[in-house]
Amino acid sequence: MTGQPLPGFRDFFPPEHAALRGIFQAWREASRCGGFTEYEGPELESLELYTEKSGDEIVGQLYHFTDKGDRQVALRPEMTPTLARMVASQHRNYRKPIKWFSVPRLFRYERPQKGRHREHYQWNCDIVGEKSPMAEAELIGVLCLGLSLLGLGPKDVVVKVSDRSWWDAFLEKQGVGETERPTVLRTLDRLESATTEQRREKLGALAGAVEAVWEGKSADSEAVGQVRKGVEALGYGDWCETDYRVVRGLAYYTGVVFEVHDRAGKLRAVAGGGRYDDLLKRLGGEDLPAVGFGMGDAVLAELLREKKITMPQAAGAEIFIVAEAKEQEMALQITGQLRRSGFSVDFDPGAGKWGKQLEMAEAKGARWALLVGREVGEGRLGLKELASRKQSEIRWKSGTDGKICLEPTPGEWAKVCI
Ligand code: HAM
Repeated sequence: MTGQPLPGFRDFFPPEHAALRGIFQAWREASRCGGFTEYEGPELESLELYTEKSGDEIVGQLYHFTDKGDRQVALRPEMTPTLARMVASQHRNYRKPIKWFSVPRLFRYERPQKGRHREHYQWNCDIVGEKSPMAEAELIGVLCLGLSLLGLGPKDVVVKVSDRSWWDAFLEKQGVGETERPTVLRTLDRLESATTEQRREKLGALAGAVEAVWEGKSADSEAVGQVRKGVEALGYGDWCETDYRVVRGLAYYTGVVFEVHDRAGKLRAVAGGGRYDDLLKRLGGEDLPAVGFGMGDAVLAELLREKKITMPQAAGAEIFIVAEAKEQEMALQITGQLRRSGFSVDFDPGAGKWGKQLEMAEAKGARWALLVGREVGEGRLGLKELASRKQSEIRWKSGTDGKICLEPTPGEWAKVCI
């Protein structure tokens, strides 16, 4: 035992967890504003779901094993095949377009590095059953909204839009056969940040034509133009650029693809997505067009750290009950009742000395200490505002329903502590 998690796995101590929670909150809020509803699927899927649908890169990174029932299974490395499987099996029960989001934890056996781990959380938003490029625009808009809720803007990140089907047609014109094209596209994806020499070496005769596209000289996808118009109308025009270097590594994309990068270009992609119109049909479902994106928490957290954007830390309990050992039962009754009324209440289960309990209340950052001492039998309780050290007395009595009534109620305590 080393005290460390496995390589590539993360412990989230409370400060890191606060950052994660802040990210989740922004993702969920943006999804809600965009009219997406949440779904979840299993962490473990059949291995086949990925070997046939995700493409070599992800398959090489799978955590897979044979379970006790002799099934070949894998921890999910991405959500899209699960979503496609779920929608393919039940799409008749849902009105199209289906707009769903999820925040799954995913597992990929990658080489751990900055922003890359062997598990990560990924915000997925997908629209199924819509062919219009406004679906892509809508997704990019929601993605930008999510980032802006975290304090990021077009000066920090850029959404690069490209078109896989345009690339497909281009490669066909260049004489690349249908079966070779996925390999060439994968090579292009890996060459996004390569040097000219490396590109020339890998692409051979294609290098010149590809470079002309990358320099923006010869590409003109109509779909990209329509998507960008939609994004502009949604108010995120300045977040977007057309960049044909983006082709995406995953095998199932069929049309417009996009990636979010930090403007400084220091980190790996913050998010990526695109259209995958064939995946549902290939999973044995209906022929339904689909488009979506995934945004990881890890690169995003790196970016937020670089931009010095911090998330609020989780607050401790609002009220700390300090009680004499003899009055513990009464203290517990008050605790239970206040909690049922929605207050956040803490106490020392070890019922330590009075002074120690007060110290604990302060250390935990509580605003109020409710003092349950000897006078409780006479219907009296002490109330202390810990930061100001102001103290007062409040009263309690049993209500007709047997509940304890505090006078004044916690909502009015600020007025009495003087
Ligand atoms: P992806 O590009 O493989 O796409 O992943 C999306 C994002 O997840 C990446 O941009 C990155 O931020 C994060 N990510 C991926 N792998 C790791 C890792 N090992 N460590 C940390 N973060 C990582 C997909 O997964 C597609 N299924 C997205 C999608 C949804 N396409 C359509 N719908």
